[in-house]
Amino acid sequence: MDRRKGSGSRDANGGGLAEATASRLRFEDADEVAEEEVGMEVEESSDAPEEVIGNEKTSADYYFDSYSHFGIHEEMLKDVVRTRSYQNVITQNNFLFKDKIVLDVGAGTGILSLFCAKAGAKHVYAIECSQMADMAKEIVKTNGYSEVITVIKGKVEEIELPVPKVDVIISEWMGYFLLFENMLDTVLFARDKWLADDGVVLPDKASLHLTAIEDAEYKEDKIEFWNNVYGFDMSCIKKQAMMEPLVDTVDANQIVTNCQLLKTMDISKMTSGDASFTVPFKLVAERNDFIHALVAFFNVSFTKCHKLMGFSTGPRSKSTHWKQTVLYLEDVVTICEGETLSGTMTVANNKKNPRDIDITLKYSINGQRSKVSRTQHYKMR
Ligand SMILES: C[S@@+](CC[C@H](N)C(=O)[O-])C[C@H]1O[C@@H](n2cnc3c(N)ncnc32)[C@H](O)[C@@H]1O
Repeated sequence: MDRRKGSGSRDANGGGLAEATASRLRFEDADEVAEEEVGMEVEESSDAPEEVIGNEKTSADYYFDSYSHFGIHEEMLKDVVRTRSYQNVITQNNFLFKDKIVLDVGAGTGILSLFCAKAGAKHVYAIECSQMADMAKEIVKTNGYSEVITVIKGKVEEIELPVPKVDVIISEWMGYFLLFENMLDTVLFARDKWLADDGVVLPDKASLHLTAIEDAEYKEDKIEFWNNVYGFDMSCIKKQAMMEPLVDTVDANQIVTNCQLLKTMDISKMTSGDASFTVPFKLVAERNDFIHALVAFFNVSFTKCHKLMGFSTGPRSKSTHWKQTVLYLEDVVTICEGETLSGTMTVANNKKNPRDIDITLKYSINGQRSKVSRTQHYKMR
């Protein structure tokens, strides 16, 4: 197995969603924990992290509000597949922005707002709830766009917009496995509240895809490892490890089957409930091989452009900071060319924490070498 090395690979980050979530962390839960934590620290310790004084931020602020730290924005901005795609969409389709009122949902550093202003937008409202909003204000000013871009610090769900309707909503809301973080709900909220009847939401299409991979070496390293740790049986941890989807880069030559489209979402029409679904899949082997895991990835597209534009986070495309999502199978499936691994995938927001995702995979194969039928549950936390 030939796995890409260096930053962005499994080997570099140690794999696992736990690590991954440290970067694209969810601010809402973070706020709640932060409040509790600050209270606790103040009572118990005089060395408690101080509150923000002026522009000074403590590690507690950074930890609990990851979007306030420039590091995550640096990672996103340096993801050229992501950021150049948005830039190309905006700069090559001025007709969508010229003299239009634009709403940037979750503006971060304000990069998308700046692209829109440059493309001739009449006014851009950039909403950002993290501390990065202060930086965005300064960035807008430094670059001479204060007259065109208004940065509003606050949650989309709570702020007041100075205009009743907007012509365009732009947002980069996608999480790991497309839906992790659940920021899509925020975009739908903004769409329903402020988008004019003939307005556009960008991107307007997102799709989730599935394929199957050979991954013996890494499954051994991450899962089977727990069977014998310095001579001790720690296989109870293996059960937990199996349930955690792994966010990582998969090499294209590990792919054993076709890639199947699972679900398409029309962001301009869908409801929040459409992000929970059960869909069937049929993966057909393109060679004789073993299957250790199923791999999910997403594509987004901007269909309102002169020509269709978008990008893929699939293993055959240039890698992005979203990587792919690997779901290990209990069984090692031996599959022969032309045979089918079929089943269903159920995706739902976790009931306790709607920003987390529960995935149920039912799969079966009745092949020459493998006869398996199983249901597995995964939790993205
Ligand atoms: C994935 S980042 C994208 C940032 C920026 N648009 C870019 O493309 O670089 C999403 C941003 O949305 C912000 N955000 C998420 N949910 C929000 C909400 N409900 N209200 C306001 N901002 C939100 C986060 O703090 C984060 O900075």
